[in-house]
This record gives sequence, C-alpha cells and structure tokens, in this order.
Amino acid sequence: MQNIQSYVQEHKDRFINELFELLKIPSVSADTAYKDDVIKTASEISKSLKDAGCDAVEICETPGYPIVYGEKIIDKNLPTVLVYGHYDVQPADPIDLWDSPPFEPVIKKTDIHPEGAIFARGSCDDKGQMYMHVKALEIMTKTNQLPCNVKFMIEGEEEVGSKSLSWFVERNQDKLANDVILISDTGMIAKDVPSITTGLRGLSYVEVEVTGPNRDLHSGLYGGAVANPINILTKMIASLHDENNHITIPGFYDKVENLSTEERAEMAKAPFSLDAYKKSLDIGAVYGEEGYTTNERNSIRPTLDVNGIWGGYTGEGAKTVIASKAYAKISMRLVPNQDWEEITELFKNHFENIAPEAVTVKVTPHHGGQGYVTPIDNTGYKAASKAYQDTFGKTPIPQRSGGSIPIVSLFEKELKSKTILMGFGLDSDAIHSPNEHFGVWNYLKGIETIPYFYKYFTELSK
Ligand code: BES
Ligand code: MN
Ligand code: MN
Repeated sequence: MQNIQSYVQEHKDRFINELFELLKIPSVSADTAYKDDVIKTASEISKSLKDAGCDAVEICETPGYPIVYGEKIIDKNLPTVLVYGHYDVQPADPIDLWDSPPFEPVIKKTDIHPEGAIFARGSCDDKGQMYMHVKALEIMTKTNQLPCNVKFMIEGEEEVGSKSLSWFVERNQDKLANDVILISDTGMIAKDVPSITTGLRGLSYVEVEVTGPNRDLHSGLYGGAVANPINILTKMIASLHDENNHITIPGFYDKVENLSTEERAEMAKAPFSLDAYKKSLDIGAVYGEEGYTTNERNSIRPTLDVNGIWGGYTGEGAKTVIASKAYAKISMRLVPNQDWEEITELFKNHFENIAPEAVTVKVTPHHGGQGYVTPIDNTGYKAASKAYQDTFGKTPIPQRSGGSIPIVSLFEKELKSKTILMGFGLDSDAIHSPNEHFGVWNYLKGIETIPYFYKYFTELSK
C-alpha cells in the first residue's frame, strides 16, 4: 500500500501525543468517583473519530456509560468492518507500586521495549490499542486508501462486564450490520513472533460470604467452640481443587471440549521458554492442572481462582477476635461449550452443599460471559494473516488466549459475524497491574498493519 509507512513515520509524534491526552483522563469504570472522567473520555473519542474521517459520529446514551459510534460508508455494495474497543480502564491501585503516576503518561525504555514504552493505565488495555484503529482510519482517509465501509463502536464498561453494550447491541442490529468485527484488545507472542488470537476464555465471577456467629467474638472466650468463618471459608476454598489441581465442583468439566492430540501438538509448536517464563515472574516452578502444559493451562483449560479474600482484623498490631463473617471473590475462566450461567449455578449449589452446618453461606454472581473460538479458514483470518505478513515479514501464529472479552460471543449471536482479534500487546505489558505500558514500536506497528487488513479483507471478499 502507498505511503502507509511514511505517513506513520511523519506523524508518529502526533499519534503518541494524541494518545497521551486520552491516557490523562482517568476513565475508571469500576469506581463512580470517576464518572465525569469516563463520560469526558467518550466525548474526546467522538471528536477523534470525526477528525479521522468518520462522517457520522454519535455518543449513544445507554442505561450506563455511553457508547461512541462512528461510521464512514463509502459504498453500500462494499464490505463493512466493525471496529470494537473500550475506553474504560481498570482501577490504578495499588497506586504506591507505580513508578510514575498512572494518569500522567511517560515514555520509558525497557529491556523488551528499547525504543520506549508508554507507561499509563490503559496504555495497552485498551486505549492505546483502540486508538491504533482511529489512526489507521485517519491514514486510509487522508491517503485515499479506504477500500470499504467502516463502523466504530467504542464502549466504556468492558472492564465491568459490558452490560450496557449488550443492551445496545440487542437494540441496534441493523445499525451495526457488518461483515467482520475487528478488535485489538489482546496480545501477541513477541515482537518478532506475530500471532492472531483465535480464542478467548469465558468467565463466571462470583462473590461468597460465610457467616458464623451473629457478631464478632472474643477468640479466647469462644475460640474452639464455634466455627470461625475465616477458617471455614479457607477450608472450603482449598477443597475446590484436588491433589492434581483438578476442580472438584461436580459437573464442572462435563462440557469442556477436549482437544485432539494433533491440535495439542500444533499448539505446542508456538515458541515458549519455560525458563524465561519462570524468570519473568520470579517463581521457582509453575503450578497447575496435572497433565497439561503451561500454555494449555492458561488457554484451553478452565480454572478457578480466588481474586480477593477478606474478613476479621487486618489493622495494625493484634486483635484477638473471631469474625462473624468472611468473604471472597472468585473467578472461573471457562472454555468454549461451558455455559457461564450453568457453571455459576453449579458453583453455587456445590458451595452451599459443602458448607458445614455451623455456618451459612451466600453466593452472589457478579458477571460472566461465554468463551469464543474462531476458525482460521475464514476471510477475516486470512486477511489478517496477510496483513501481518506484509508488515512483520512473517506468517502470524494462531493462538488461543486465556483472557476474556465476554461480549465477543454476544456479537456472534446477535450480529452473526466473526471477530478477528489483532492484538499488539505483550504479556509483559502489565495490563491490570501497576506500571502498565505499551511499546511505542507495537503501537506504531499496529497502526501500520491495520490498513492492510482492510485492503485484504476487501480483496478477499470479492
Ligand atoms: N483486554 C482484556 C482481555 C484480554 C487481555 C484478552 C489480553 C486476551 C489477552 C479485557 O479488557 C479484560 O481485562 N477482560 C476481563 C474480563 C472482563 C469481563 C472484566 C478479563 O479477562 O479479566
Ligand atoms: Mn481490554
Ligand atoms: Mn482489561
């Protein structure tokens, strides 16, 4: 394609500065204290879509945060690409662990990113990756190379379960009609090992509350004679895995798709160093389900993890007390065919069943979603693969990811189209963690690669 690389080179400083402006707004969807900032981010994105060449841009109100919609329709007979992304970010805490303030973006060099990486909450997940698409559209419109129609749908509740987006998609099927959905909200294996994400895990997220005595008790006067909810909760949680690290909830694995030996052998070809993995995390050994490799454990197998646990006294010094209540937040990552609502129900029944009579338990489901797998023999995948070949000089590897974007399976159900996941982040970019960053090289390479996707998708759709 003409001029794409030179356009990126010429405008890269502006591309970075524009992203910085977005990153300065703390659009934390989980915390209502940031409500105005979340809404402001939506309006900034709508402006940038207009500047990039969208003809019609709307800020669509929903029961929650608005959805930014934009489109450029050049010819009804040409294919339409629907771009999805999210402008909300995870909370920044623990703030003390950031080396620079999370909403004051700076470029710093790292071993993996010697050209520099943008450090800020949302730099990789997902403002930086979403904005690559806005800049790719700018390039295509400014250089007269947009080959097909494009629609943008950027939401502000991905990190909290995309409730309003489900509402919006169900009500706007015609408006959102498309031939393929394109998302950059995942990662790739390494800068010299491009990959396309072909699977996402589903999710069931629950909160549990264990109640013992009706009030906090003196642990000397009552200790040993009544159930301590924290002791009980930890025991119940421990029992959710057996000695082989299989999950013990009856029926949990019933629908899990077992991959064939060939498929597993194919997966094992992806470059991976267990030593480098352990080193990057400062761990002496990996840990997980018996009979599966690390890459299998975090992609094709379901999991159950405690995300947070609390109760009792955690302040300074010591307090001798048996708390009345103990709590935990638990996530289960699911694989295709497992139904998240069914799994939530199985969890609830099991957790209630294993509770001793001395306590009562309450299980509250939070949110969830189905997993997703996309075949690699469709036009969208082929177009993406050719795009990477042009800009990376290598055929990308298909790879199933362990993360979740629950709305993707709803897109398939409601909009009847496949999603192509062209992620440019790296696992080491620390998304959801302190010091999240996104390589400048990755950002610019993404911007450069996306126009080729449009080109090949249009050509292959003929
Ligand atoms: N972008 C991530 C998901 C992701 C990251 C998938 C890297 C694959 C590779 C997304 O923003 C996210 O964090 N999703 C949540 C689920 C959501 C319902 C809160 C997740 O996976 O925990
Ligand atoms: Mn994301
Ligand atoms: Mn995220």
